[in-house]
Amino acid sequence: MQILNSCAEAKKFINTLKFQNKQLGFVPTMGALHHGHIALVEKAKRENDLVICSIYVNPLQFNNKNDFTLYPRTHESDLKLLEEVGCDIVFFPDEKILDGKDFFQYDVGFLDTVMEGLHRPCHFMGVVFIVKALFDILRPDTAYFGLKDYQQLAVIKQMVKDFEMPVTIIPCPTFREHDGLAMSSRNSRLTKTQRENASNIYKCLSNLKSNTVHKTIDNLKNDFINSLKSIPEMRVEYIEICDADTLKPLETLHSSSSGVACTAVFLGEVRLIDNILLF
Ligand code: PAF
Repeated sequence: MQILNSCAEAKKFINTLKFQNKQLGFVPTMGALHHGHIALVEKAKRENDLVICSIYVNPLQFNNKNDFTLYPRTHESDLKLLEEVGCDIVFFPDEKILDGKDFFQYDVGFLDTVMEGLHRPCHFMGVVFIVKALFDILRPDTAYFGLKDYQQLAVIKQMVKDFEMPVTIIPCPTFREHDGLAMSSRNSRLTKTQRENASNIYKCLSNLKSNTVHKTIDNLKNDFINSLKSIPEMRVEYIEICDADTLKPLETLHSSSSGVACTAVFLGEVRLIDNILLF
C-alpha cells in the first residue's frame, strides 16, 4: 500500500498514474474508519483499477471546536484496516491542503439553509472547500460517499456540477450495526448506555416510515420527537421530511413524490445524524 504524506507528493504520484491511464476510485474520509468506510473501499476496488483513500480531519467543517478536538484519531488501526481490504493508496494531506481557504468563494445556496446547513453554520463551506481541494489534487474518475450524510451528498453533487468537475459521484448505502444504528466514527464516543439508547433513532425513523400513509407530516414529526424525548440524555435537534432530490420540505406525502426523513439527535454531547428514504 502506497502512503502519500503531503499534497506535493500526491500531485507527483497522481501525474504518473494519469500517464498509465488507470481508472482511479476515491474514498474521502476523516479517519476513525469503520465497516461503512471499508465497504466504500471494497466497492471502489470492484469498480476501478486503483483505489485511493484520504484521511484528514478537516478543521474547516467543524462549527464546534470541542467536536473537532474530540473527533477520534486512529491512524494506526485505520491503516491496518485499509491494508487488509487491499486499498492501493492512502493520502494524508499536510496543511498545504488549506491553501487558498481565505479566498475561496462558493454559494452552497438553498442546501445551506436547511437541516445541517442551518444548524452547523459554515459546515458545508468547509466540506466543499476540502472535497474540491482533494479532487483537484487527486483527479479521481469516481468518488464514493455514504448516504448516511444525505445532505452532504447533495451538496457535493451540486458542487461537482457547478465547477464542472470530471468526476462521477457514487452514492453508497448506509451501513448499520445489528440494532440498526447507522455506523459513524462518532459512535465510539457514546457511553454504554447512550450506545444502547442510540438504536432508537433508526427504530423511530422506521416507525415514521411505516406511518406515512395514515399521518400528516406534522404528526409524523411530533411522534418522532415525542418517542425519543423520554430517553435519558437524548435530544432531537431536528427532524425534517423533504423531497429526496431537492431537499425542499414536503407539505404533503404521496407515493408519487420521493421523500426522505432526516434527523440530527444529541446523546449527551455526541451529535448523530441519520435518515430514511420514504418511498
Ligand atoms: O464525510 C466525511 O467524512 C467528510 O465530510 C469528508 C467528505 C471526508 C470531507 O472532509
